[in-house]
Amino acid sequence: MKRTLLIFLIVFLLMQFIRFEQNNFAVEIKDEIKAPLEVMNILKKSCYDCHSNEVKWPWYSQIAPMSWTINSHVKNGRKWLNFSTWENYTEEEKAKKLKGIYRTAYAIMPLPTYIWLHKEADLTREERSLLREWTGVRK
Ligand code: HEC
Repeated sequence: MKRTLLIFLIVFLLMQFIRFEQNNFAVEIKDEIKAPLEVMNILKKSCYDCHSNEVKWPWYSQIAPMSWTINSHVKNGRKWLNFSTWENYTEEEKAKKLKGIYRTAYAIMPLPTYIWLHKEADLTREERSLLREWTGVRK
């Protein structure tokens, strides 16, 4: 029992050496997405922690293995959709991403594991509808 615990502890400590850069880039206002205030509030509250260059890295994002998960969320989140650099997308890309938002707004986003730790990021039905309507996507 003691040995298992010791091994666990050593593995945990070794895991801490695998580190990632947790960055944020300068945000140029001209590149950021423009949306009505209610929509911006939703995006900032529930999406910006993975889909922007203004990620708030919590203390536990420094600790493995959470750091691995969080880093991969931000990395993939930004790759798919970055609201801080929205204006650099082509019209085609924007349309595709708006469709994605329309598709994910009701359930999939924000990620459930994230809501679990960020209750305040959960969206009400009304907020989800508002976000959906804003995308302008017609079924
Ligand atoms: C905890 C991190 C996190 C949060 C918060 C988050 N996302 Fe995501 N999102 C991701 C990740 C990671 C992906 C990449 C998908 C994958 O790897 O499967 C993604 C992908 C997407 C995609 C592309 C999916 C597709 O299939 O086209 C859209 C659209 C999206 N997110 C919208 C949103 C919106 C809108 C919000 C806020 C309401 C939000 N996300 C909040 C992590 C997040």
